[in-house]
Amino acid sequence: MQTKMWIPENPSDPKDASIQEAARLLNHQEVVAFPTETVYGLGADATNEKAVSGIFEAKGRPSDNPLIVHVSNREQVDLMVNHIPDVAYSLMEAFWPGPLTLIMESNGAAASNVTAGLSTIGIRMPNHPLALALLEATGKPLAAPSANRSGRPSPTKADHVKQDLDGRVAGILDGGTTGVGLESTVLDCTSDVPVILRPGGITKEQLEEVLPHVAIDPALAGSESDKPKSPGMKYTHYAPESPLWLVEGEDDFFIEQLEQLKRDGQRVGVIASHELAGKLDHAPVIRCGSRDQLSEVAVKLYDALREFKRSEVDIILTEAFSEKGVGAAVMNRLRKAAVQVVSED
Ligand code: TXA
Ligand code: MG
Repeated sequence: MQTKMWIPENPSDPKDASIQEAARLLNHQEVVAFPTETVYGLGADATNEKAVSGIFEAKGRPSDNPLIVHVSNREQVDLMVNHIPDVAYSLMEAFWPGPLTLIMESNGAAASNVTAGLSTIGIRMPNHPLALALLEATGKPLAAPSANRSGRPSPTKADHVKQDLDGRVAGILDGGTTGVGLESTVLDCTSDVPVILRPGGITKEQLEEVLPHVAIDPALAGSESDKPKSPGMKYTHYAPESPLWLVEGEDDFFIEQLEQLKRDGQRVGVIASHELAGKLDHAPVIRCGSRDQLSEVAVKLYDALREFKRSEVDIILTEAFSEKGVGAAVMNRLRKAAVQVVSED
């Protein structure tokens, strides 16, 4: 399959010629990648089972992993859920369009493979003019997971999508680099106290400004306390080409780990904050922003993970960041991407 690449002239206009062409393909059960404010998504008509199966095929995604449905208006939400809980109304009001996915009871209107057989459905309204224009032009809610091959870091640039999916999808709409850099927060609104299933662009602190109580899925908290992981353990998410080691501790401890690996003859690539990078006498190092600006780290993280090639480095070493604010999402992704967590204590 030939993959079309479009750079729309009028990215916020549903009548733009490229957006119209992409919408036509989507309405013919094809899959098309498009930018959102978080990462690029791989879209298909959420009401059409055949179209949605194209997403799983192109990504090589296990069929038991449900997809997020993207909408451009509230009516599309009404069409897909049994009822909208009060908390969900407040959250839509506060954070939509934006990086917050709300899990609600599905009414079965979405294709069954969207929800992977669950009784619930995840929905969000993306805060990106091109995504919204495409949704308007298509006139349908779009199921869209991140537009990477399953297991790889999510794409924050059209070129990342091309690296993973060229020849496997009908087209890619190029809207430049995405803003947040990490995926949306997934929040389960079906219980009395909403539960964060995946930390993301809307932080727990922001949710707490709107909700009296927010819980965190125990599965997330659990992985936090786990100490050194054995190589290869269940980590097939966000994986860079070379194995990633996450170093938790002071800068001196990081430097010791780096020096030891070099003495062992390993070619090491480093991902570090400006603060740590400034103390290193080493190359290659990718600087991913300041420790005091974790939103900057979020924007650069996936690009950094894609940067190091297997032919150039044997191991990628990254520092651990604070878990405040969007740092919770950054650390969640790093823990999943890492084959080894090296801790000072
Ligand atoms: O920012 C994002 O959310 C991006 C952009 C493209 O919108 N999308 C994204 O989709 O990250 P994906 O498929 O890579 O991740 C969706 C996550 C998965 O962890 C999935 O298990 C969860 O959302 N999810 C979807 N529907 C769910 C449901 N009904 N119940 C529980 N989890 C669900
Ligand atoms: Mg994903």
